[in-house]
Amino acid sequence: MPAKRTQNTSANGKTAPLSGHSARKATSPNTSQDIRARFLAYFEERDHQRVSSSSLIPPSDDPTVLLTTAGMQQMIPYFLGRMTPPSTRLTSVQKCFRTTDIDEVGDASHLTFFEMLGNFAVGAYFKREAIAFAWDLLTKVYQLPPDRLAPTVHPDDDEAPGYWQEIAGIPADGITRLEDNWWGPPGASGPCGPDSEIYYDRGAEFGCGEPDCAPGCDRCERYLEIWNLVFMQYYQDTDGTRTLLKQPNIDTGMGLERLTMVLQGKNSVFETDLFRPIIDKFATLAHTTYGENAEHDRALRVIADHGRALVFLAGDGVLPSNTGRGYIFRRVLRRAVRYGKMLGLEGLFLAEAADTVIDLMRGHYEELVTRRDQIVDVISTEERRFNQTLTAGLQLLTRELDALAKAGKREVPGELAFKLYDTHGFPVELTAEVARERGMTVDRAGYDGAMQRQQDQAQGGHVFVREHEEEAWTKVSNALPTTSFTGYEGTLGSSEVVAMLVNGKPADEASAPQEAALVLAATPFYAEAGGQMGDHGVIGSQTGIFQVSDTQRPVPGLIVHYGKMIEGHLRVGTEVRAEVDANRRRAIMRNHSATHLLHRALKDILGEQVHQQGSLVAPDRLRFDFNMTRPMTVEELREIDRHVNSAVLANSVVHTETMPYREAVATGAMALFSEKYGDTVRVVTMGTSKELCGGTHVAATGQIGLYLTTQEAGTAAGIRRVEALTGTGAETFVHRRNDLVSNLAGRLQTTPDALADRVRQLQDELADARRSLNNIQRSQAREEAARLAASPTEVNGVPLVAAVVSAPDTQALQEMSDAIRNRLGSGVILLAREGDGQAQFIVTIDDALTKRGLHAGKIAAVVGERLGGRGGVRPDSAQGGSKDVRNLRSTIAEARALLA
Ligand code: ALA
Repeated sequence: MPAKRTQNTSANGKTAPLSGHSARKATSPNTSQDIRARFLAYFEERDHQRVSSSSLIPPSDDPTVLLTTAGMQQMIPYFLGRMTPPSTRLTSVQKCFRTTDIDEVGDASHLTFFEMLGNFAVGAYFKREAIAFAWDLLTKVYQLPPDRLAPTVHPDDDEAPGYWQEIAGIPADGITRLEDNWWGPPGASGPCGPDSEIYYDRGAEFGCGEPDCAPGCDRCERYLEIWNLVFMQYYQDTDGTRTLLKQPNIDTGMGLERLTMVLQGKNSVFETDLFRPIIDKFATLAHTTYGENAEHDRALRVIADHGRALVFLAGDGVLPSNTGRGYIFRRVLRRAVRYGKMLGLEGLFLAEAADTVIDLMRGHYEELVTRRDQIVDVISTEERRFNQTLTAGLQLLTRELDALAKAGKREVPGELAFKLYDTHGFPVELTAEVARERGMTVDRAGYDGAMQRQQDQAQGGHVFVREHEEEAWTKVSNALPTTSFTGYEGTLGSSEVVAMLVNGKPADEASAPQEAALVLAATPFYAEAGGQMGDHGVIGSQTGIFQVSDTQRPVPGLIVHYGKMIEGHLRVGTEVRAEVDANRRRAIMRNHSATHLLHRALKDILGEQVHQQGSLVAPDRLRFDFNMTRPMTVEELREIDRHVNSAVLANSVVHTETMPYREAVATGAMALFSEKYGDTVRVVTMGTSKELCGGTHVAATGQIGLYLTTQEAGTAAGIRRVEALTGTGAETFVHRRNDLVSNLAGRLQTTPDALADRVRQLQDELADARRSLNNIQRSQAREEAARLAASPTEVNGVPLVAAVVSAPDTQALQEMSDAIRNRLGSGVILLAREGDGQAQFIVTIDDALTKRGLHAGKIAAVVGERLGGRGGVRPDSAQGGSKDVRNLRSTIAEARALLA
């Protein structure tokens, strides 16, 4: 995929709509702010509705896409006809992240995070209009010289060249045909089509001078791709099969950074106003100046890109981890730290520069300001952690590379790369980079194999069968209207079976005892979403009964009931009655509404910087993750419970309404920043809590019943987790605790209220008793020591005391040994004790004997070995022990022989 930098910004509603004329008269033309605004204004004036940038975390429908890579991603349901768009013409500035070009970051124009300017048509127009808009905007509004613009088309596209000729006056031989001009799908399957990419000719001085140098030339940086117009007319299956979409669409993407580079007349994106302050910040921290040293400049560019990307990733709630997008975060941060080392950057330089990025971008991305603390926190925690392991890992790697080089090897074994990753947190890409610097490569297949083995072990080879169903469901969903969800109003409904899968394959009939997945035309079953678990229940007719054990939404707009036929059979077309397990659902609703009250309470008590990071709404409990760097105090926890319970007692009616996203956010409704919302959203209000939410809720807060926090703990860096109970669950919990207290009070012969005093009293008594016992044991030990010292045996003229004694602990054993030595003067003392199923012993020898060559450590080694354990090494005094006590007495009895 060619690198396509395009820009999106979340329209924050604050930018005044500009007319085409006022745009050109803007006070500081060609600032990046102005370039974004003119793009959106241009398309708004041409009836395109502006939509906000979606989060960098894409909606969870497609597990193959970890991060948002293009503006079209949030349009996919519209392109596929699964959802009705708010308008058939749309425009956006989208936050995007691509790892595909990470190795090229550091040159003039490649980035990981970038902003994509886009216009989209859902059947509203096609090639001619898309080309006309692009040409007009570039040449008239942005006033780029027409002779610098070089369009390219797909070799099979017979229409686009004609439009380019007609609209821009570019003759057929001025249009390059590139095999690469095909875009999508962005995931394993999805919409795609041929495209027409517009290149900007930076001039012959940037060229390679070869006669065939043209757009797409990979030898030089003369032609810069700035805008991609995709003619999106196909749907592509995971197996590569393409079918025509119901209507052809337009998806375009232009890289804001590249356009800004061209309009500001700079030689790289890093010199534009989008980057220069970031570059300068890092240069200052590194006590250097950009533009003085080519190697340093490249490192500064890499760090500027990565540092900026980390701010946006953290801002959208991506947290470092070892999998998925969390791993991307980790890898980018680690790469930046390593480049920082080349510049001598120490400490938390990425966290330090986060403020610069936030202040630079806040004009268009207000969310960065509200999430500032969290962003800095996440970056600094991870940076600190990596600094600690980096030094150790680099040393190990350098040693290993030296050894390999010495052995004449040029390849780093996969196992070694994996070990570095697994134990030192060294991303394999980093290992590859360090290796590359020394002309070596990494055995990636070996690395993947080692990783796979570890994962197989971790998961026991478990495969999620449902993952393979995605394609089947896509087909089902293409052929059917959206499932209508009737479960907000009730838990009962009548409908018709419209599709089913048996063993993951489309089927017409399922019969007992088969497992199956059913789709109804309409259903009261809630499909798992937003943390709320899917409903259970039964679907039945005269002919059979299906027990639903889970409800999911495998692709947007399609609700699927998973379960088992427990009686008879059901066919596609059968009229059925659907009945949700209402008790379970009510428990879920209590927990879901309580989650909203808890979220509000956390913000009220801990501050607005607290954001939800995840939640689970189950029938028997709720779980809520949020950002905070320290544990909550007991007082804060108590305060949370008080807050939530007083909101419950207020018995506020729960209101739901649908409204445009922007209106909802403007009224202060809390939106989760990792979620993607449609343009129309559902807002749930209860008391002072107002959240965007598609879940099911109680009618009034009083129905929640008692709310009880049962646990608070840390889960990951900067994340706390609260677990809580409501309603009958909370009651049961309280009763159990009550019973436990009564039971304990009974056993301790007191009342529940006096329990604490009684326990303290018993603890004091126990401590006293322990002290007396210890005194007795010590005086016994002293007597025993005296007795032993009085009657040593002799071996070759050396006095020997060897015995298993009743010392209560090692300290007492040592004391006894000292006492015997004092009495005995010269001699060998071997004392042993048995306790907690283990054997311990001490060998002591006086100086005179050690000078004669006797060695306590050697004796201890022999004794230790006999016992099946180990012994110490010092010549005058050595300890030892064993987990096996069986040979203890016989070994000590043979001490004479051993010594001799
Ligand atoms: N989706 C197209 C791209 O990313 C516009 O290049």
